Amino acid sequence: MQKILVVGAGFMGSGIAQVSAQAGYQVYLMDIEAAITDRALKDIRWSVERLSAKGFLKEPSEKVLARISPEKDLLSASKVDWVIEAALEEEELKRRIFQDLDRISRPETPLATNTSSIPITRLAENTRRPERVLGLHFFGPVPLMKLVEVVKGEKTSLEIFERGVAFVQSLGKTPVRVQRDIPGFVMNRIFSAAFREAVDLVDQGIVSSEDVDVGMRLGYGWNAGPFEIADNAGLDTCARVGQSMKALGAGHLAPSSNLIERMVGEGRLGRKTGKGFYKYSPEGKRLPWEDK
Ligand SMILES: NC(=O)c1ccc[n+]([C@@H]2O[C@H](COP(=O)([O-])OP(=O)(O)OC[C@H]3O[C@@H](n4cnc5c(N)ncnc54)[C@H](O)[C@@H]3O)[C@@H](O)[C@H]2O)c1
Repeated sequence: MQKILVVGAGFMGSGIAQVSAQAGYQVYLMDIEAAITDRALKDIRWSVERLSAKGFLKEPSEKVLARISPEKDLLSASKVDWVIEAALEEEELKRRIFQDLDRISRPETPLATNTSSIPITRLAENTRRPERVLGLHFFGPVPLMKLVEVVKGEKTSLEIFERGVAFVQSLGKTPVRVQRDIPGFVMNRIFSAAFREAVDLVDQGIVSSEDVDVGMRLGYGWNAGPFEIADNAGLDTCARVGQSMKALGAGHLAPSSNLIERMVGEGRLGRKTGKGFYKYSPEGKRLPWEDK
């Protein structure tokens, strides 16, 4: 059985671990504190049992769950066939993780990052195997979203790029090939352009966030509006992506208003804190805003 290490057990890492286990891989799921991996395993159990109850899984949920082991360090990198990094969107942190992964894992192991905006090429520079470093950019919630961008860094070999495509397909996802490492890759650039405009219009009092979401659903056929997507992704992550875009010279894709940063300052991070552009019950159900 092929083995995978997922680094970071937050919103994305836990989803990547889940879909990998569902596809039959043995998964090591690592984060810095046991409390975080414990919470991730609880969330994964809830999601796997729901999918199982709806008849979407080919095997009992316990069999899927038994394939995921929590880890508190990166040592299991030495045993795996793939590493997928999904830690916080901070370049210095990811650089250190890539250095450690390069030291611990076998030289032939591909090292993938789920970064939304940090150049693959810059992370690859921290390893002795830049030809084996690539972007696998999943979309959240990972168990539900079918798309993964496979991103080629400057030095990623064609062989590893195509192995990335095949790996994504083995998870039951649909790959989109991004042939050049540009800030925000492709889908985030397109989304960010719409989100920038949406945030600025709301902050100027021209329209409400709810009405933008209704408009994009009904007018353009989006499955979810930009503020619903941002609440799911986490406004702290959106803020980091905006800052990263600016630092990479793609500031035209970041909102000019600081609405998102203000909301993060108030603890309104979206679904993960029960409040963002919308309000949520502890079970994740959207609630009306009586006290806005
Ligand atoms: N949220 C989204 O919709 C989305 C979509 C695509 C890509 N991404 C990217 O995925 C990555 C993770 O995002 P997220 O939304 O899951 O964030 P998150 O905050 O939910 O999770 C990040 C996790 O990284 C962990 N972490 C911090 N330092 C670590 C270390 N040294 N080693 C291992 N883990 C460490 C944190 O404890 C946390 O659990 C980011 O790079 C983000 O840009 C996010």
